[in-house]
Amino acid sequence: MPAPERIPSRSLTEAGLRTLLAEGELTVLGQVRGASNAVLYCTVAYEGEERTCVYKPVAGEQPLWDFPDGTLAQREVAAYEISEATGWGLVPPTVLREGPYGEGMCQLWIDAEEEAGHDDGNGDGPPPLLALVEDEEPGEGWKAVGFADVGEGRKALLVHADDPRLRRLAVLDAVINNGDRKGGHLLPAPGGRLYGIDHGVTFNADDKLRTLLWGWAGDPLTAEAAEVLDRLSAGLEPGAALATRLGELITAAEIDALRGRVESLRTSGRHPQPSGDWPPIPWPPV
Ligand SMILES: Nc1ncnc2c1ncn2[C@@H]1O[C@H](COP(=O)(O)OP(=O)(O)O)[C@@H](O)[C@H]1O
Ligand SMILES: [Mg+2]
Repeated sequence: MPAPERIPSRSLTEAGLRTLLAEGELTVLGQVRGASNAVLYCTVAYEGEERTCVYKPVAGEQPLWDFPDGTLAQREVAAYEISEATGWGLVPPTVLREGPYGEGMCQLWIDAEEEAGHDDGNGDGPPPLLALVEDEEPGEGWKAVGFADVGEGRKALLVHADDPRLRRLAVLDAVINNGDRKGGHLLPAPGGRLYGIDHGVTFNADDKLRTLLWGWAGDPLTAEAAEVLDRLSAGLEPGAALATRLGELITAAEIDALRGRVESLRTSGRHPQPSGDWPPIPWPPV
């Protein structure tokens, strides 16, 4: 008898994925190298469904002097909650749970597609999101971030794609005060979706926005973003479900600062601008 074909996995809803991640049996397969915190690659299995995920145990977090309260795992979940509230689905399903190394965050693993032009034998991946160009101006379809030193006294212009998905992410980052939006945290998934990951250094009460996505700085927000910000503003009213949920994850002062950022975006109607001459970008940028 021929071996039975693998039963194709049902597609799960967002809530189904959260249940799987939170309740499923977690098996650690390995550790992601080069991460600043312990990032474990795992499978999670629940009621006949299995997915791959990352599990970042709180015990493996590097303490950060400027984030003394709560845990990075809680901030990752808070970023997911905001992403869900926007309706943009920019952050993979993320939950807090117990695991083999204690409490941590568990997030669906995204199999990112290699960008076109990568030397992996097929040239038909999604278009690149970031580039360094020799010109003074970004070309058609690109937005300028700033000039970067590329060694030997040469400078190149860092640009990102003029892509509506990145523009949504730029708004999300402004809201969550993301201190670390670098190239490696942008994951293009099959089907044209783009996810952002690594939201541990977010929600600080002080301005920490460090990102590569400065291309729209000072530009008017899209109508879609303005609507989303109105919705977030309502969701952050004391007693609203989102505000209550965030109260379990970040401090009251951080929620106040979050409200302040949402309100100032609504008032200005524009993407934030860097306060200094040079836009704060994460290092290394990729
Ligand atoms: N949900 C995910 N899907 C796919 N890859 C992931 C996911 N989360 C993390 N990774 C991979 O693991 C690496 C380290 O994770 P990251 O969240 O950046 O950890 P750290 O908090 O240490 O910076 C990422 O650069 C990425 O390659
Ligand atoms: Mg990282």
